[in-house]
Amino acid sequence: MHKVRVSLASRSYEISIGAGLLAKVGPGCARLRLGRRCAVISDSNVAPLFAKEVLTSLRDSGHEPILITVPAGEKSKSVAALGRCLNELASHRLERKSFLVALGGGVVGDLAGFVAATYLRGIPFVQAPTTLLAQVDSSVGGKTGVNLPAGKNLAGAFYQPRHVFCDLDTLTRLPRRDYVSGIAEVVKYGVIYDAAFFRSLESSISALLRRDPAMLGRVVRRCCEIKADVVSKDENESGLRAILNFGHTLGHAIENGFGYGKYLHGEAISIGQVAAARLSCEVMGLPERDATRIESLLRAAGLPVQVKLSASQRKKLFEAMLLDKKVSQGEVRFVLAKKIGEVTWGCRVQQEQIDAVMDSIS
Ligand code: GLY
Repeated sequence: MHKVRVSLASRSYEISIGAGLLAKVGPGCARLRLGRRCAVISDSNVAPLFAKEVLTSLRDSGHEPILITVPAGEKSKSVAALGRCLNELASHRLERKSFLVALGGGVVGDLAGFVAATYLRGIPFVQAPTTLLAQVDSSVGGKTGVNLPAGKNLAGAFYQPRHVFCDLDTLTRLPRRDYVSGIAEVVKYGVIYDAAFFRSLESSISALLRRDPAMLGRVVRRCCEIKADVVSKDENESGLRAILNFGHTLGHAIENGFGYGKYLHGEAISIGQVAAARLSCEVMGLPERDATRIESLLRAAGLPVQVKLSASQRKKLFEAMLLDKKVSQGEVRFVLAKKIGEVTWGCRVQQEQIDAVMDSIS
């Protein structure tokens, strides 16, 4: 098992990465002295697979857990689902000395984290991410929240978990499409921070697609190290943390503009990364061959790199971009690459440049 530390003064915590970790959630929470009573929040896909193991582990280590299951899918990242979870905690009389376990992918982690941030003005929670995307990105760093009809993640809080348990065994149970979607975030870490890691992905993409255990361990660990480093330097995204949004400006708009569910998050940000790479050639002088390498790696992973848009869909996409949190003073800002392994945030881009790139990826 590997440990990665997220250093945030009194809010510091560790990420455990290894096989068989769901069975260790109970003892782990006991060591952290989070309380006796707790709620596991999961969804209708994940709970049947893994909730029993987590509940048993919690009971065997002296806890009294309840299970709250929300419907699987992005629709549960909503104010309505937040209200239902809060009411359920209240009806079971969970108190300040209680805690939550988020068991599932990004939707469950973001929702459960926001429930933890708001119930009784905040109770502790731990993350037990069961998807690649959640293990390498969303479970780490304390971004919690729900979507509003107007846009993704528009209501939320920075609220750090007390521990993250990345059980690599759960990744072998993921449907292929969900697994591949997570690889888009993995590629992102290479582009934004680590050219050597990007090269290792290029040479070992087949091992990653095979879910080779050693490769999975290395990949999840490196992504968590990078995320921990970035978050430790800029917890509340006043600057550097924005680099984690490479490919997300257009990616979020694709997710939102097409209606949640048509494109998985990773699929949308794969297309977004291709667009950001091409914009980077225009605006930052990223060598064309680097943009090609980014596109080729995403393609080799089986991710989409193009999107067909009608004129009205493109208009909707621009509207969605303007609603994104990355808008500053009414202007859409991008994270762009100078070279693989180095990016800059807050970049202004001309509308015509965006249009040209949209043409090239249609
Ligand atoms: N997923 C981007 C971040 O945590 O900042």
